[in-house]
Amino acid sequence: MAFPIDRFQSEPTPFYYYDMELLRQTLDVVVAQSGKYNFHVHFAVKANANPRLLAEINKAGLGIDCVSGYEVECAIQNGFSPEKIVFAGVGKSDWEIRLALEAGILCFNVESIPELEVINEMASQLGKTADVALRINPNVDAHTHQYITTGMEENKFGIGLWEVETVCTRIKQMSNIRLRGIHFHIGSQITDLSVFQMLCTRINELQKWFEENKIKLDIINVGGGLGVDYEHPDEKPIANFEEYFAVFHRFLELRDGQEVHFELGRAIVAQCGSLITRVLYVKEGQQKKFAIVDAGMNDLIRPALYHAYHKIENITSDASSEKYDVVGPVCESSDCFGKAAVLNSTKRGDLIAIRSAGAYGEVMSSRYNLRRFAGCLV
Ligand code: LLP
Repeated sequence: MAFPIDRFQSEPTPFYYYDMELLRQTLDVVVAQSGKYNFHVHFAVKANANPRLLAEINKAGLGIDCVSGYEVECAIQNGFSPEKIVFAGVGKSDWEIRLALEAGILCFNVESIPELEVINEMASQLGKTADVALRINPNVDAHTHQYITTGMEENKFGIGLWEVETVCTRIKQMSNIRLRGIHFHIGSQITDLSVFQMLCTRINELQKWFEENKIKLDIINVGGGLGVDYEHPDEKPIANFEEYFAVFHRFLELRDGQEVHFELGRAIVAQCGSLITRVLYVKEGQQKKFAIVDAGMNDLIRPALYHAYHKIENITSDASSEKYDVVGPVCESSDCFGKAAVLNSTKRGDLIAIRSAGAYGEVMSSRYNLRRFAGCLV
């Protein structure tokens, strides 16, 4: 990526830099490829809630997927129409349910009978009918990191396959609930598209059960999870949306009038974002060199939390490369962005880009060590 280094030099570090042109190109591909099949795409705002990005995403016509009342508020404040909001989450508080009902969102993705009971009661108090999709746990292995796999039976998410019948019977007795569809999300950073084919097969089996039981579904929400190439952010900056959507088109057996919905986060925003940080010190250990930078795990927690790989580049040096452990100033050994990262020879004052940080970067930052939040440049 060609970074605007001159602009960077006058900017206090650390900061998130977003390449808005890449975001726009990515959105163009998402819209074109999903549009081929009339698929509906919601942006999973948990991946990035930066208003500059949300404005572009809204302009492209995407809907939004929220997992808290705060995200519902954020979506509405950033101009998304409530009819394009889906609201998921295993633990929705009463105020969050009320807020979503009052806003008139498209659909609640519901995860349990007790939650359905609360939504039904609140909807009746407000004189409304809540549209819901059942989040069903399809027991499909996403082949991804254990912390971000969600579709296996032992995960806390969703309604088990064995419970679906009971849930549907209960819903029939709930006068303020309208069952609109079914929802799935099997995990994140999925790069093996055959996993999505397996999800389609499972959905097809379930659809037969719903049909036999004369339950009409008009929303099939397949969640998100499409992965990106963290190793080579410049080779494939835009994920393979063409093949991704084609898998669902080929393998999902839809009934008349059914809409397919997606909740994509990472694949839309990961590659357009980098965390830009300045080298404070180069420290020589006995076996290795440390590049100590002014960004910390509070700014980007993915390496510490998931041992996630992010490509690291020295963008102001063209001297021959050496290996460095790139570490932050936070008082934790896990405050390390990369071990033995190959960087152009590095000195105090150089600028470092930590790549593919547009998803689950800024939004997961904290003020640990009472540090200030990183800035933002587009
Ligand atoms: N829908 C639901 C119900 C989800 O739980 C998620 C993500 C998404 C959609 C969006 O998934 P995506 O398209 O972004 O894979 N913080 C972790 C990722 C956590 C994902 C949580 N759920 C990370 O940094 O890798």
